Amino acid sequence: MRRTAPYLVLLGLGACSGVQTPLHPWGDQAARIAVLSWVLFIGGTAIFALVMGLLAYALFAPARARQAMGTRGFVIGGGIVFPTVTLLALLVYSLGVSRAVVLPGSDDPLRIEVIGRQYWWEVRYPDAGEGAVTANELHLPVGREVELLLSSGDVIHSLWIPNLHGKMDMIPGRVNRQRVRADRPGAMRGQCTEYCGVQHTFMAFWAVAQEPAEFDAWLARQRAPVPEPATEEQARGRQVFGEAGCGACHTVRGTEWQGRLGPDLSRVGSRLSIGAGMMETHRGTLAGWIAGAQDIKPGNAMPAYGRVLESTDLLAVSIWLESLR
Ligand code: CUA
Repeated sequence: MRRTAPYLVLLGLGACSGVQTPLHPWGDQAARIAVLSWVLFIGGTAIFALVMGLLAYALFAPARARQAMGTRGFVIGGGIVFPTVTLLALLVYSLGVSRAVVLPGSDDPLRIEVIGRQYWWEVRYPDAGEGAVTANELHLPVGREVELLLSSGDVIHSLWIPNLHGKMDMIPGRVNRQRVRADRPGAMRGQCTEYCGVQHTFMAFWAVAQEPAEFDAWLARQRAPVPEPATEEQARGRQVFGEAGCGACHTVRGTEWQGRLGPDLSRVGSRLSIGAGMMETHRGTLAGWIAGAQDIKPGNAMPAYGRVLESTDLLAVSIWLESLR
């Protein structure tokens, strides 16, 4: 116990890091859920302490305890009235919170579609028109209510951004809606919370809240064709991308590659992570992913190109993808 105690403390402190916890709310819905969590935690702790206190009293002073607790009033009060009243109060309060967090606050929310796929996230901005598509990164403007339209392309997934709201299932054939609002800029981590296959654990993403002007600029960049290669190596990388057939599964805006099976790669170099939250994005991780996606995340749909591409070509294509910002 003495050895494990420090680790248990560290485990508890993990929840304080702030990027994936309901205890650091970034918006109204999450703030209500955070208060609910504390009320239930403190309420549960108080009841637990009371029961343990009575148990200790009965164990260490059985004669006096029998006298004090043996009365009909104590049995009815402690056994029926007290738990019924407290549990009912907590139930009514939690139902009130559940209702309050789903009420729309705005008639004109920004709609964002999120489609769960094994094992990544497609994110679309229908209000911005065609081509506003990204993957594994959900950007939203600070201060504006956002309606997430959640669906699935294969099996049941569940979206959870603890700093913004509770969990919401993504079910094939239907669209679930969730209203969220971020009140300050920054990046928070989200996670799939419905077991969806072998890589369920590594189906994560980043939600990035930005000031409205910054968000608009970001959205415009997502829709624009990608820039021309700036160096010879980038040009070679672009060529390798075509020769290796990557465009059959991936879209790169402004090119002939319009594949829809895998994540849209138009601005992959600007994203915080690749592999759906697995690794930071840079040429090294991109090269590693292309060469050994099945070693890094076995069972995902990306084939491994380690035996297909020459190392110089692998580096070139990674450098080109890194340049797509
Ligand atoms: Cu998707 Cu678990």
